[in-house]
Amino acid sequence: MTESPYLHGNFAPVLEERSDNHELPVTGSIPPDLDGRLIRNGPNPAVVPTDETEYHWWAGDGMVHAVSIGGERATGYRNRWVRTRALASRLGTPAPRGPSEPVDGPANANVIRHAGRTLALSESGFPLALSSGLDRARLHDFDGGLLSPMGAHPKIDPTSGELIFFGCDVFGPPFLRYHVADDRGALVRTETIDLPRAVMMHDFGVSATRAVFLDLPVLFDLDLAARGRSVPFRWMPDAGARVGVMPRDGDGDAVRWIGIDPVSVLHVLNCYDEDGDRVVLDTVRHDRAFDTEPAAGIASVVPVLSRWTIDVRHGRVTQRQLDDLPVEFPRVDPALAGLPHRYGYCAVLSDVPARPTFGGLVKYDLLRDESTRFDPGPGRQASEPIFVRAADGKGDDEGWVLSIVHDAAREAGDLVILDATSFGGPPVATIHLPVRVPFGLHGSWVPADA
Ligand SMILES: [Fe+2]
Repeated sequence: MTESPYLHGNFAPVLEERSDNHELPVTGSIPPDLDGRLIRNGPNPAVVPTDETEYHWWAGDGMVHAVSIGGERATGYRNRWVRTRALASRLGTPAPRGPSEPVDGPANANVIRHAGRTLALSESGFPLALSSGLDRARLHDFDGGLLSPMGAHPKIDPTSGELIFFGCDVFGPPFLRYHVADDRGALVRTETIDLPRAVMMHDFGVSATRAVFLDLPVLFDLDLAARGRSVPFRWMPDAGARVGVMPRDGDGDAVRWIGIDPVSVLHVLNCYDEDGDRVVLDTVRHDRAFDTEPAAGIASVVPVLSRWTIDVRHGRVTQRQLDDLPVEFPRVDPALAGLPHRYGYCAVLSDVPARPTFGGLVKYDLLRDESTRFDPGPGRQASEPIFVRAADGKGDDEGWVLSIVHDAAREAGDLVILDATSFGGPPVATIHLPVRVPFGLHGSWVPADA
């Protein structure tokens, strides 16, 4: 039996749900304007697989971790499994309410807040709306409007408050749907987009006027699915690659497809319009992916930040590598989603591609073509950086970067708060969490008044 790296070290699941409703120890000073809760999702199998060979990091049950902050204090920590129907059935606990025939996925990849709902997301199922205590879940299908899974990387328009997302259905056409929910969470638009095949499409770009889809050659493989692979996708570069640009107010037939060289992208940093006919898409580019057996969990090559300038009128995509540092989990200030950005934040990967794990963080200044790294220190590894604009923040980097750091010496997690304007310096505050927090995927800062 081959040991899975994604069940050991700080990838190993935690098997206890905690409710630490008391003040947590802090080193440094928590900024007074941070008032809310950091929520973060990630795979955490409730039953540790006995055959590790087949285990893929993305297959585990979801667990959401939450750290509450307010009044310059850290006021609590809790973690809860995301109670999907599959998990409830295995645990013998009540199933989540919701539609009678939902598409059930692990809801382990992301957790967002929109229109008063906290939604746990994966790309293979319906979202689960979580109660504020995270104890209860309800399958959410937008009042019956959702007919196929919802992707894990929706965008929230900072101006309109709309939730813009897509969903892929690997089991039959239409393979791709585009959706918009208004600022009150009502599904107001669904467009069917004609794709010839089922692909892994994990993220996309949304500018102020356009949506950009990535039809890249990581293809759904029915044979792998039949063999029980939890992530049944395969790299097939001969299938070709293209980006599709659609006006946000257009219909599915209005997508303009532009061919590119085969490449893989899991995550998009941001997307914005430039000079009318061009769209800029900052991505983390993988030269290939899902070309190992079983598929790698983070990366099988060195992923790097890359700027794609899409000339819509002439049908051309120009790619420029922005750095050679191995990175993933790119994040931008949510207030600039779909708008021009100067700064971006990523987690730095270590030991790529041999045995990928996390290092520190990096802040990119894309105007000056500079980067600043944050080193969490010996025996410490960071995770996705989440930017929170300061209450009086005017400049594009005036805010805080939050990241859960694993401290091997303490065998526990720290929530590190960095001042983004002095990124390479020591954290302004480190909240010492009572337990280990396994490496996870994505999360959000939820202001107390959201
Ligand atoms: Fe993701």
